[in-house]
Amino acid sequence: VGDVSTVVAVDGPSGSGKSSVSREVARRLGLAFLDTGAMYRAATWWCLDQGVPLTDQVAVAQAVRDLPLVVGVDPDGPTVVVDGRDVGVAIRTTEISSRVSAVATNLEARAELGRRQRAVIEAERTGGWSDGRGVVAEGRDITTVVAPDADVRVLLTASEEARLARRARELHGTADAAALSATRDQVVRRDADDSTVVQFQVAADGVVTVDSSDLDLEQTVEAVLDVVERARGAR
Ligand code: DC
Repeated sequence: VGDVSTVVAVDGPSGSGKSSVSREVARRLGLAFLDTGAMYRAATWWCLDQGVPLTDQVAVAQAVRDLPLVVGVDPDGPTVVVDGRDVGVAIRTTEISSRVSAVATNLEARAELGRRQRAVIEAERTGGWSDGRGVVAEGRDITTVVAPDADVRVLLTASEEARLARRARELHGTADAAALSATRDQVVRRDADDSTVVQFQVAADGVVTVDSSDLDLEQTVEAVLDVVERARGAR
């Protein structure tokens, strides 16, 4: 182990913990970390910045093709830079969260971002930031569309209840009734919208499901590391 590259694909719904888990797995294995949701968010930010109406699918697709995006894949400090501007914070606002589905449901935009994601994965497989050690790429369609040939493919799931509680704590610092209902739109509605174009609720053939409903972050990281070790052992 260590002399061959490892590509780990992780998909899951919002609140499944896939970003924190994938990032920590990458850190422990010395792999690059690619947050593909951040690319959809950056594309949405760019459309708004450029005054592109999100209802105009042709204009959105064109804006995404022209998107001057650079992502940094160091798991200790992943970066998202658009047109020379660091948008790492700006892409996490509730405004972006509530509008990102306009890009995520645009098939031409998906094709363009998918191409760029494959290019990053390929660069890390053979060189790049990880020096060819590989990458953990997470999103909604990585195990199925972007990297169906990944060495390790994981679907990270959690009950709707657990996902809502996690997001509520993240966004509001508590999971009381008010925080839960404020979070419901973001988690449930957005996943429902996104599900119309990408299927990420059920594991595809050969994809290992890890259910994090009753696991904390460390336990989930260990469960995913186990899957990686088993896959490496089988090679
Ligand atoms: O994981 P996230 O909340 O940062 O994702 C932002 C949006 O991008 C979300 O609406 C789902 C979408 N997305 C997608 O459609 N495909 C991916 N590979 C990653 C994210």
